[in-house]
Amino acid sequence: MESPSILKFTIPLSCFFTLLLSAATLKPVFASKVCNFPAIFNFGDSNSDTGGLSATLVRATPPNGETYFGKPAGRFSDGRLTIDFMAMGVGLPYLSAYLDSLGTNFKHGANFATAGSTIRLPSRIIPAAGGFSPFYLDVQYSQFEQFKERSQIIRRQGGIYAHLMPKKDYFPKALYTFDIGQNDLGEGFFGNMTVEEVSASIPDILDKFSLNVKNIYKLGARSFWIHNTGPIGCLPYILATFPSAQRDSYGCAKPYNDVAQSFNHKLKEAIVQLRIDLASAAITYVDIYSVKYSLYREPHKYGFELPLVACCGYGGKYNYSSSVGCGGTVTVNGSQIFVGSCERPSIRVNWDGIHYTEAANKFVFAQISTGAFSDPPVPLKMACHQV
Ligand SMILES: *[C@@H]1O[C@H](CO)[C@@H](O)[C@H](O)[C@H]1NC(C)=O
Ligand SMILES: *[C@@H]1O[C@H](CO)[C@@H](O)[C@H](O)[C@H]1NC(C)=O
Ligand SMILES: *[C@@H]1O[C@H](CO)[C@@H](O)[C@H](O)[C@H]1NC(C)=O
Repeated sequence: MESPSILKFTIPLSCFFTLLLSAATLKPVFASKVCNFPAIFNFGDSNSDTGGLSATLVRATPPNGETYFGKPAGRFSDGRLTIDFMAMGVGLPYLSAYLDSLGTNFKHGANFATAGSTIRLPSRIIPAAGGFSPFYLDVQYSQFEQFKERSQIIRRQGGIYAHLMPKKDYFPKALYTFDIGQNDLGEGFFGNMTVEEVSASIPDILDKFSLNVKNIYKLGARSFWIHNTGPIGCLPYILATFPSAQRDSYGCAKPYNDVAQSFNHKLKEAIVQLRIDLASAAITYVDIYSVKYSLYREPHKYGFELPLVACCGYGGKYNYSSSVGCGGTVTVNGSQIFVGSCERPSIRVNWDGIHYTEAANKFVFAQISTGAFSDPPVPLKMACHQV
């Protein structure tokens, strides 16, 4: 795990002493530092898509959503995602997807993430075989730019519109969250690039990432919460596709995780530079990799089992097949079998070979919300402050 670098924070002296005093005596001083984010604007891929891809190109079907929503809810999981727990954690409702035309409410934010999104323009787009989302990060940025301007015009129409759109002053006060990059690595791996070639593409991927963060800052964003990428080499879609890749002691595909860690190392460096370039920004780097990896290292300690096996999938050691996914049907010996979910998703880590279960997402949220995996180590509720 990367250790948070405490040394480079510059805390005003008066503030420092207040913190020292209050740590020993009065808790309320901490409470007064809570940010009260009025909104969240999220950018990302399926790890945080609350309905974008499902409303546009690939509908989430049963058994997605069965654990929490009781029906498909635009998420590729049996229930809520980490972003859902984060929204709740700061006292806000679940985020509506910007691309969903039905029943959306953007008063407290909007979600520009779509499953299959990349940072860079992908070479293959859905519905091409192995295609990715057309809503890559540059597009998500343009959508946000348009949203920021048009939401205010629509708000001024009054009536119901005033209740469905954020107030103008929510934009500078909002939390801007990011979880994207996994599919840029995946696109390389599945596009027959060697792990070395994928590794070599990371600086360019991160240049494009930083550019988008800067552009969002220029539109007035100040508080950024940036997830690094998870251990992609522990996911069934990698494990089943690359059976001969070297395994680590927990059964994850080591070369693929090495690339993810290299991405994270360079992302952290890019964020150091962003803090220099964007003087008024509070940017929190969140080590999702370490939290997710602990689920493979010590699943039983956290109440999980079979972390490398998909709960909802079909075939092989990892219960995953690239030819039939969760919610699909497969013909076996002349009879059709529905690819449904396992008996107890609540003790499983992996949902469908690519995505995590609600139980795993809840665990991730519990770990990251305290600030224990962040640099600087501020809790989610306080991530508006530069420390
Ligand atoms: C990767 O290589 C395989 C085998 O040579 C080929 O069938 C497949 O089309 C290639 N995929 C891409 C995206 O180039
Ligand atoms: C399909 O049929 C074969 C041959 O009868 C049998 O060995 C196999 O177990 C069957 N598979 C399933 C999933 O029922
Ligand atoms: C694999 O997926 C099937 C659904 O196709 C599910 O019934 C089964 O329980 C899963 N296996 C494991 C070990 O989770």
